Amino acid sequence: MDIDSEVDQGTQNALLGLVHRHTGISMTAKKWTLLQGRLRPRLRALALRNYRDYLALLENTPDEVRNFINLVTTNETSFFRTPRVWDYFAQHYLPRWFDAHRGAVFHLWSAAASSGEEAYSAAMLCEEFRARHPSFQYQIHATDISSQVLASAMTGQFHGRSIDGLKAARPAMLAKYFRASAGGYAVIPALRTHIMFSEHNLYRPLAAREAFDLALLRNVLIYFETADQECVIENVRQSLAPDGMLIVGESESLSRLKTGFAFEQPLIYRNHGAPHDRTA
Ligand SMILES: C[S@@+](CC[C@H](N)C(=O)[O-])C[C@H]1O[C@@H](n2cnc3c(N)ncnc32)[C@H](O)[C@@H]1O
Repeated sequence: MDIDSEVDQGTQNALLGLVHRHTGISMTAKKWTLLQGRLRPRLRALALRNYRDYLALLENTPDEVRNFINLVTTNETSFFRTPRVWDYFAQHYLPRWFDAHRGAVFHLWSAAASSGEEAYSAAMLCEEFRARHPSFQYQIHATDISSQVLASAMTGQFHGRSIDGLKAARPAMLAKYFRASAGGYAVIPALRTHIMFSEHNLYRPLAAREAFDLALLRNVLIYFETADQECVIENVRQSLAPDGMLIVGESESLSRLKTGFAFEQPLIYRNHGAPHDRTA
């Protein structure tokens, strides 16, 4: 019998529910076909007979949850995605931050980093800034719930659409910060050393030593329900400096949410809530 024939409603609901339980991503019953398509190759690889067997495996095998998370997350990203945000970052944010925090290290969090294009984009612009201000120091922490995309991000190797996009948008950056390597391009070590990668679920507080000056939480809130968005945003806020900033994705807005952030300009918010006691 084909693995896709007659998946009972209970199994569908249970798998959709597990997506929410493990990632916070909300998938209504209408998304079953999408979820089924993502899981099908895994069922085949495991030679399972049906989705009920996969559900049982997931419930009894904690290690399989990691594979499940890798399969159900959407990891679309690109270098310098939403150029307006990067213009703001390079031309307004960094010069102002540097003036206000002389001698401090700039800490940025790429909070749903996917395969790393966002973190490396930030690093390239930080390097450009450092070339003009040699005392500028920065550290980037890139996190994602998907171990698969993070493993790819850590290699610093890129190819295909990712590189084509960078080549078209900012060819000078490609030439300066990448070297041709087997089948693609590798980020130069001088850039890579500024970025730390770790697995992290946004529904939990991040254990970080330093408060972040800026968090990029882009193109991930769209997958969450309102109450879940508020929970994630508060977790991120707790990791920010009192004067920290938050940048969201281009189709995201905090305007209808209860958060501790004040609007600065579209997509850009300022920490406005009660300070967090980092020693607690
Ligand atoms: C569409 S990508 C966005 C990547 C990048 N921020 C950008 O804007 O190009 C969304 C990322 O969010 C991650 N994600 C989804 N749910 C998450 C969660 N609960 N905690 C952490 N990351 C999550 C996914 O694994 C995926 O890599």
